[in-house]
Formats: sequence, structure tokens, C-alpha cells
Amino acid sequence: MKNIMVTGGAGFIGSNFIRYVFSQKDFKGKIINFDKLTYAGNLENLTDICEKYYDKRYFFIKGDICDRKAVEKTLEKYEIDTIVHFAAESHVDRSILGPEEFIKTNIEGTFILLQSSFNFWKNSKNTRFHHVSTDEVYGSLGPKGYFKETTPYDPRSPYSSSKAASDHLVRAYSHTYGLPVTVSNCSNNYGPYQFPEKLIPLIILNALEGKNLPIYGDGKNVRDWLYVEDHCSAIWTILKKGKLGETYNIGGECEKQNIEIVKKICSLLEEIKPSSKNPFLKSKKYSDLITFVKDRPGHDKRYAIDCSKIKKELGWKQAYDFDKAIRETIKWYISNESWVKSVKDGSYRNWLNKNYSYR
Ligand code: NAD
Ligand code: TYD
Repeated sequence: MKNIMVTGGAGFIGSNFIRYVFSQKDFKGKIINFDKLTYAGNLENLTDICEKYYDKRYFFIKGDICDRKAVEKTLEKYEIDTIVHFAAESHVDRSILGPEEFIKTNIEGTFILLQSSFNFWKNSKNTRFHHVSTDEVYGSLGPKGYFKETTPYDPRSPYSSSKAASDHLVRAYSHTYGLPVTVSNCSNNYGPYQFPEKLIPLIILNALEGKNLPIYGDGKNVRDWLYVEDHCSAIWTILKKGKLGETYNIGGECEKQNIEIVKKICSLLEEIKPSSKNPFLKSKKYSDLITFVKDRPGHDKRYAIDCSKIKKELGWKQAYDFDKAIRETIKWYISNESWVKSVKDGSYRNWLNKNYSYR
């Protein structure tokens, strides 16, 4: 891996992945972050990386994966040998309100990347297209059972359907054209730099400001939570040791009901930043802010991943324990005030204009 094109590198997991790869002693190559900068793209996630590596080993291209010319130009200019494809519309609630962008970016965009890399790489050796996907493609579980790599697809939201379609296209390019692909399907991530529309950062930031903590339905839906750096290490392991054409499930083996997560965040906040000293709380406790709201339409009940394949075959395992990592995550959102402020007031979207030297 000399020149890695990371699509969606300004998003939550993509930016953590870029930081992770640069921290690996055995990586000496370049990373080209190709990102459209939608509302979810935030270059402030990578300020430290820009300062250290920009124009030497880190490059940024503001581009849309649906723009074939821009994709082709990037592949050629930077002699890309590896693509790690994160770019997507990623939020289920937004996909319910407006599915069109999900179809465009997640399906059409993935197709354009596949076709362009196939044309560019032809039969060259040592190339790889790694597709980052979700466990949501498998549908919803009852109280028992786990998603395995062989579980039939049964997506139920516009988001998961569009990701399922993209997974099928990636495998089709492997089977039909011999494109060197790997696929990973991962459970819910949490950690630093997550856009506060997803459950964990939304609850932390709302609680700190004394706002309601919305819980959909009865709060008993279950997700399997994985710390983002563990997802990054799993992808890195697949890039190094994964077998071409294979799919690997990645999970935290850490199932929690949503209500448990929200109560845990409230109790940790009482320890780290007591409500009695928080002027926004006005003599309330954090847990008093919990509010049950109307359920999400078609809300999947339970996700749980069987990740024994990547553990056994590639020797990966999670390094972070939930209790410790959620505490660190809360502290991160408390201590990174300027990141939170610019996400809230929208000024993160002007990052490139303010930092001309990185354009
Ligand atoms: P995110 O929404 O935080 O970031 C997505 C990034 O993609 C943004 O930087 C955005 O600007 C960029 N992007 C969107 N459309 C684009 C386009 N047309 N062209 C170029 N860039 C575009 O998402 P995330 O949570 O970091 O998720 C990254 C990937 O991981 C997605 O493919 C998602 O399906 C998958 N995934 C996420 C989770 C999770 O818990 N967040 C779990 C499993 C898998
Ligand atoms: P989310 O972070 O949107 O991830 P996903 O839908 O991809 O799993 O939601 C995680 C869970 O939390 C999901 O069951 C929906 C629920 N949820 C709430 O109860 N309230 C909220 O405000 C949000 C954003 C999510």
C-alpha cells in the first residue's frame, strides 16, 4: 500500500482511520482524502494531520464519488493502488426523510468508483478496493442469534438498502471482473469526531446543554457498540491480511439497549461534570432530561454481530472496553469545546476558506 485513496475521509470513521494509519510504523505511503464535504464532512477532524503531513504524505481533494472525471483524475494523478471506501450518506433518519442522496452516493457513487478503479488498474498487481459497510444490511434480529457473513441480506431502511446494493455491486466486480476487493460489515461505532446526529454524541451534547434526551419508542432496541479505533484496526488488518473476495464482519460483542446507553452517559456525566454545577441543568439531574419520543418508522429491533471469522482467520480483536471507552468519549466531547462549537454554529463548513494553504 503506497498511495491510499480514502473516500469520505473527512467524516467520522474516515478521519479516525486516516489518523490511525499515519500512527502505524509500517505505513510509509501517502493518503489521498477524497471527500465531497457534505454536512457530515468536517476537515477540522484532521487539523493535526494537515499540520504534520499536508502536501507531503497527506492530500485532500474536494470531490464527489459520483463525478467520474474527478475520480479518474485522482486515481491517475496520485497513482492510487488502494481504495478504502467510506464515503456514504450514513444516517438512517435522514434516509427516511430524503432517500435520494442515499441512492446517488451509496449506489451510483460506489459503482463509479468500482468502474473507474477497474479501468485504471486493469491487471496490475498489488491493488485493492476495500468497501466499508454496515451490519444493517442483514436486517433485524429477534432476542437471539447473530449476524454472520453468510446471513442473507434483508435491509429495511433506505440507508441499509442502499448499502446492501453497494455491497452487491462490489462483490459483482470481484466475481465478474476479478477486481481485488474485500468487504467489511461493521456494527455501530462511537468515539471522537462523530457528528452529533447519531445517538451517543447527540445525547452527550444535549445533556451538557440541559436539552431533552430523545429516546425512540420504548428504548429497548439493541445495538452492538464498537469503539471507532477498533473499527480502524480491523480495516487495517483486512488490508494487510484479508483474502481477496472475502467479507469480514466486525463488531464490539457489546450489546446494549438504547436506554442503557443513555442512562450510562447520564451517570458518567454526574461524575465527570456534576449536574449540580452545570448552570444549564437548573437543579435537574441529567437523567431527568430523558424523554421518550415517537418511534422511528421501521425501527430495527436488534443488531448483533458474530465476528469470529476476522478473529480466527486474521487474528484481530477489540482493544477497547466499553466502560472505559465511553468515559473517554464523553471527556473528549467536553474538552474539545472549539470542535463542538464549530459543528453547532456551522462554521466547520468554512474550514477550507479559513485555511487557504490547504486548498
Ligand atoms: P459520516 O456520515 O460521518 O461521513 C461520511 C463522509 O462521506 C463525509 O465526510 C461526507 O462528506 C462524505 N461523502 C458523502 N457523500 C459523498 C460523495 N458523494 N462523495 C464524496 N464524499 C462523500 O459517516 P461515518 O459514520 O464515518 O461512516 C463511514 C462509512 O462507514 C459509511 O460507509 C457507513 O455506511 C459505514 N459504517 C458506519 C458505521 C457507524 O456506526 N457510523 C457503522 C458501520 C459502517
Ligand atoms: P443511530 O445512532 O442513528 O444509529 P443506527 O440507526 O444506524 O443504529 O441510532 C442508534 C440507536 O439509537 C437506534 O436504535 C435509534 C436510537 N436513537 C434514539 O433513540 N434517539 C435518537 O435521538 C437517535 C439519533 C437514535
